[in-house]
Amino acid sequence: MKIKLRQETPDDYSAVFKLIEAAFKDHPYGDHTEHFLVDRLRQSNAFIPELSIVADLDGEVVGHILLTKVKIKNENSTFAALSLAPVSVKPSYQKQGIGGQLIREAHRVARSLGHQAVILLGHAKYYPKFGYEKTSKYDIHLPFEAAEENCMVIALAENGLDGISGMVEYPKAFFE
Ligand SMILES: CC(C)(COP(=O)(O)OP(=O)(O)OC[C@H]1O[C@@H](n2cnc3c(N)ncnc32)[C@H](O)[C@@H]1OP(=O)(O)O)[C@@H](O)C(=O)NCCC(=O)NCCS
Repeated sequence: MKIKLRQETPDDYSAVFKLIEAAFKDHPYGDHTEHFLVDRLRQSNAFIPELSIVADLDGEVVGHILLTKVKIKNENSTFAALSLAPVSVKPSYQKQGIGGQLIREAHRVARSLGHQAVILLGHAKYYPKFGYEKTSKYDIHLPFEAAEENCMVIALAENGLDGISGMVEYPKAFFE
């Protein structure tokens, strides 16, 4: 299976919409509106075109990942970071490593653009294999009622989280 990972283009929007809807259809925690979230994020200031990446299998979009800009704020400082949300693989192609390839590629591109850290709310068993740790270790908090083990962060550069702590501020698009 030869998967090509590439930046999403407007021609992919409709396929990505259907893919995300299908991937989250039976998800126990999602609210099944993740495909609309991606549409809103694309139109927001948080959007970074290079960090909306698709997995293309012979012209078919079988996976997608989006990293968008967030801030981490404490009393004294504001830090720039990224949020990973959502990542989706077409149900019939799951558990073949495509999700992992998308996550690693998104990290690579984000690092090349100079970004320091990625936060996410997700499966506690899946993301640590890519280097994610609990945000609580860094005194970073997400503005959701979620178990500590599901709130995760990764530094894209060595010591990338040094001195960073506070509450994550998501773009408004997440709450509309
Ligand atoms: C979460 C999601 C993106 C993961 O994508 P995926 O392509 O299935 O992920 P991977 O194949 O990289 O990893 C999934 C599992 O398959 C295993 N796997 C990876 N490559 C494999 C291969 N070649 N053969 C068999 N198993 C493999 C992984 O070890 C992993 O095992 P785990 O269940 O013990 O963690 C996908 O399941 C999905 O779209 N889910 C619905 C939406 C969602 O929940 N998104 C995340 C919240 S934002």
